[in-house]
Amino acid sequence: MTRIAHISDVHFGRIKGKGVVDALLKDVHAQEPDMVAISGDLTQRAYSWQYKAAFEFVNAFQVPVLVVPGNHDVWPMWWPARRLGRPVGRFEDVITDDLSPLFKLPKAWVLGLNSAHGKTVKGGLVTAAHSERVREAFKGGPDIRVLVVHHPLAPMPHASKADVAVGGRGLLAAAAESRVHVVLSGHLHVVQNVRSDEGPLLVHAGTATSSRGRGPDKTANSYNIVALDGESVVVERRDYDGLEFGLVRRETLAVSPNVMRPGIGIGM
Ligand SMILES: [Fe+2]
Ligand SMILES: [Fe+2]
Repeated sequence: MTRIAHISDVHFGRIKGKGVVDALLKDVHAQEPDMVAISGDLTQRAYSWQYKAAFEFVNAFQVPVLVVPGNHDVWPMWWPARRLGRPVGRFEDVITDDLSPLFKLPKAWVLGLNSAHGKTVKGGLVTAAHSERVREAFKGGPDIRVLVVHHPLAPMPHASKADVAVGGRGLLAAAAESRVHVVLSGHLHVVQNVRSDEGPLLVHAGTATSSRGRGPDKTANSYNIVALDGESVVVERRDYDGLEFGLVRRETLAVSPNVMRPGIGIGM
């Protein structure tokens, strides 16, 4: 069993209350995951002080941390040249210059991809190069394969057209071909688990620590523990109650027959 703490949309610069970050770190530590995956929007406006806080956060975990940028980690609109020239330059300078990190755990490989860019206000973009990276990265990997990307890759509840990454369906097709079980994303600030038409499960974490919740999760802060054994994906949602994070829902989903083997469908 491989267990991943899936955290998203931390948004340093819009943290809700003083204790929430420490409570998150404490709960993640107590869950003893094999790794942490952070699916973007570390900052609110990509300011240096926000990145400094994000750096300290990323380095506070005692297990490996995979992190990808989100649209809020791109230079803000008043730096148009930087947005277009090196959109996540500050992320690369402060957090990591590897924008497609591959983590090889004993039983699972986890690949991060960057969907953030500077050409729109908040939209995401993935291209044929992202699909090629998926195909190349997972060659020879174990059965359990996970992708981490900030933006939703397909239309789904609570996602406007602008929220969905341009090119997402192409990337999902490549992910299915490469037998990716699950895609971990954020951006929506709404918790939901959705089966894609292509096969991989789309697991969306809410905002872990910010005051920017939306829709049914408008006032919520949460993160997920995602457990994978090759046949099922168990998603535990852990919410902040003002003092600590704790389990509020556990959903068990089968790995899709489209990406794994015949005879296994979606389950609860
Ligand atoms: Fe966000
Ligand atoms: Fe976002």
